[in-house]
Amino acid sequence: MSLQGKKIILGITGGIAAYKMNYLVRDLIKSGAEVKIILTKSAEDFVSPLTLSTLSKDKVYTDFYDENKTWNNHVELALWADLMLIAPCTANTLAKISNGQCDNFLMAVYMSAKCPVIVAPAMDLDMYAHPTVTRNLQTIESFGHQIIPAEFGELASGLSGQGRLAEPASILSVLQHQFSDRHSSLAAKTFLITAGPTYENIDPVRFIGNHSSGKMGFDLAKEAAKRGAKVILISGPSSQKADDQNITLHRVTSAQEMFDEVFKHYDNVDVAIMSAAVADYTPKVKATEKIKKNDSELTIELVKNKDILKTMGEKKAGQFLVGFALETQNEEENAKGKLVKKNLDMIVLNSLRDEGAGFANATNKIKIFTPTEEQSFSLKSKEEVAKDILNYLEQKL
Ligand code: PMT
Repeated sequence: MSLQGKKIILGITGGIAAYKMNYLVRDLIKSGAEVKIILTKSAEDFVSPLTLSTLSKDKVYTDFYDENKTWNNHVELALWADLMLIAPCTANTLAKISNGQCDNFLMAVYMSAKCPVIVAPAMDLDMYAHPTVTRNLQTIESFGHQIIPAEFGELASGLSGQGRLAEPASILSVLQHQFSDRHSSLAAKTFLITAGPTYENIDPVRFIGNHSSGKMGFDLAKEAAKRGAKVILISGPSSQKADDQNITLHRVTSAQEMFDEVFKHYDNVDVAIMSAAVADYTPKVKATEKIKKNDSELTIELVKNKDILKTMGEKKAGQFLVGFALETQNEEENAKGKLVKKNLDMIVLNSLRDEGAGFANATNKIKIFTPTEEQSFSLKSKEEVAKDILNYLEQKL
């Protein structure tokens, strides 16, 4: 999405991730935005005002006065902006924002700003997990500021965990989304989303199932609903809840029940996202009484379930169809194969070989494929992954 004519203030504070802002500024300018940059004193140790000034085609602010003693009017600058982004935001600047500690030019501009504010924190994992940081993030969220949470991964300290600044591409898409009509960007759309596992009964006591918690699908449903979509959520057994008036939840148990429920709605939806982990096989005979143990081995004959997604691909009539691929080997090849075989518009790959990805975790690491494009994302909370998927999808609709 173009940011043509949008006026953005970028406040950069002193962290190693500041270098990433060179790329973000380049991309913002390319997308048509006007960018004015403020560096704190410590940010100057990490990035060069000259580089940023060249990339933004404007002067870079570092203090209330320039070298030639001309005053930089913080109020005028603040009122000029359509949006203020502070990235990377250190624990120190976060605390200042939270407490209104106005002891530098960036804080003076921030406190004069009337535009939406987005904050992208970055710091080492233990700092990020510190209760004061958690509290300060909650406080500034209560001011109405949007947080772009730090991502998981390797940190400058050599440790690994949550604390990395979001990648410039992710920050850019949050900004683009901010300028689209955020709460109604999917208002006219109906989504069908599947979530959770399916249980295939062996007898009244036992079943064949899998480890899906349903979280990925519920987070997708909540995010789509937040953006104004009407969501039909069909979930296998899961303890997840969806209290949103835009979500209609249908609970099912087996793959056949999920199949039946999906096709009650499929003709009338604009987008379908199939994140459920559907059983490929089901017992040929489901015993009506509990199978009793005896001295011999027990063999259960399994028959193939219908492939819900493949059938949707065959019946597609204008719906935008998104599948998931959960893989453990030859991940990309398998995902791309499913994209073609199931006639999908997009597939989201998650691999169980990536730590923190896939089932049951609160996090996921995905790669998106369309017939012509692919994009990788870092390990993030499933809420953030849902946003990435919907941001990507919205560009394709
Ligand atoms: O629920 P969580 O704990 O949060 O975990 C999320 C998840 C790991 C379950 C989710 O991110 C995920 O990967 N879901 C798809 C799991 C899966 O079944 O993948 P698959 O590669 O086996 O299937 C490919 C696609 O076909 C999927 O969209 C699946 O919904 C669909 N399918 C599969 C079999 C079948 N009989 N019918 C189908 O529609």
